[in-house]
Amino acid sequence: MSGPKPSANSDAPQPITVLLVDDNPETRENIKKLLAFEADIKVIGTAGTGREGVAQAKEHKPDIIIMDINMPDMDGLEATSAINKSVPQSAVIIMSVQDETDYMRRAMLAGARDFIAKPVSMDDLITTIRTVYRNHEAFRRQYQMAAFSTPEQALRQATKLEGAQGERAGRIIVVYSPQGGTGVTTLATSLATLLMTKGVRVLMADADLQFGDVTTVFDIKAQATILELLPDADDIDPEHFDNIIPTHGSGLKVLASPHKPEQAEEITKNRPGVYRQILEKVRHNYDYIVIDMAHAIDELAASLFEVADQIVMVATPALPSIKNARFALDLMDRLGIAPDKISVVLNKVYSDRDRKNATLPTDRIQSFLKRQIRLEIPVVDERMLLGAVLRGVPLTIAERDRSKPPLKQFAELSKQLVDMMTASEEDAPAVPSADPKKPQGGGLFRRS
Ligand SMILES: Nc1ncnc2c1ncn2[C@@H]1O[C@H](COP(=O)(O)OP(=O)(O)O)[C@@H](O)[C@H]1O
Ligand SMILES: [Mg+2]
Repeated sequence: MSGPKPSANSDAPQPITVLLVDDNPETRENIKKLLAFEADIKVIGTAGTGREGVAQAKEHKPDIIIMDINMPDMDGLEATSAINKSVPQSAVIIMSVQDETDYMRRAMLAGARDFIAKPVSMDDLITTIRTVYRNHEAFRRQYQMAAFSTPEQALRQATKLEGAQGERAGRIIVVYSPQGGTGVTTLATSLATLLMTKGVRVLMADADLQFGDVTTVFDIKAQATILELLPDADDIDPEHFDNIIPTHGSGLKVLASPHKPEQAEEITKNRPGVYRQILEKVRHNYDYIVIDMAHAIDELAASLFEVADQIVMVATPALPSIKNARFALDLMDRLGIAPDKISVVLNKVYSDRDRKNATLPTDRIQSFLKRQIRLEIPVVDERMLLGAVLRGVPLTIAERDRSKPPLKQFAELSKQLVDMMTASEEDAPAVPSADPKKPQGGGLFRRS
């Protein structure tokens, strides 16, 4: 006999399996009863202590674990840490009456994927379960596919599957424009998304610390942003880093900017070198790191220009943008940034007919910038751009209607951008040696 719920049919999607860990039997029962109304969610176990929770997690490997903090025996944070190490395919949602940032931070560092306040609103809980499940999917798949017993084995296997050795190339691509609105975020997110389709590991880092848009573009909620990583910056473990930062449904990892603009100063003012420091610690866990930059050239920006393997300088074919690009290129020159790692890309280029009299011709731009324009990306309908990135798929796949020339061109040119970024890999020096303490050349403001 088949089960009573449609989800029990073999051809229906599997429900999200949930383990409830709370020392209060009433809370457990209530949540369990209410979750029973959701066809896509199935509570497969409950536990009353942290220790019992860990044991059940190991046995059942549920998709989601709802974890109380204050419990006898082993508290929820400790249990979360233990689960994160031994059952990484399960995602923990911490539930606590202490709705404080410090608790939230500790929960995230223990490896929790989300945090909800008690008393729990069922709507909130259900939405959170579905979101965390979705965001954890790529990670879960990696472990299921590898089907090994320890995370280390699985990770090693996953690495092997992609044909790399233990260390990944960790190539850093900075996308930058001195002016806002030129399309830095659009191109950086398109680039990262397209790289993902090559089956490589990609980290999308939002270094626009005040007004970062990456989590908005990908529609993800980041509990652990760069700020939460600061206290441990000196001794961050790449794997732990990878576990606590959010994952987009496509598998793309995201290093988010702080939630509030005023928090940016913690880095830009107090510790401008820390961003680079963190990236250098974790870079060899990824094939590519794509950085979406803010527009200022400050110490943070200079440190990222330095560490970058490639810089995509974005400008639009309008006079102010070109003038600012020229200033930025000159400044980069004075900072000792190698010119051959900079690719100038024009974005929002109108077709020749529309362009006449409205914007600058490419040859004039080139002679003014004293650089080749590597790529010209046309103006496209913004709604299509947004829709594609939001779904985490490149425009080429997202849009069936390729008859519209700008759209087709945009897709092709974005791919060319990817090719440009991946092709120069061959000319570039090989993967740096395994020694992460390799000395870095020069100070911030050394001259070329
Ligand atoms: N090629 C393009 N065609 C049309 N609109 C674009 C194009 N590139 C970017 N945009 C739009 O321009 C606006 C600014 O882009 P964004 O990537 O946020 O710029 P930045 O990060 O440089 O401030 C966004 O609304 C974006 O959708
Ligand atoms: Mg931006």
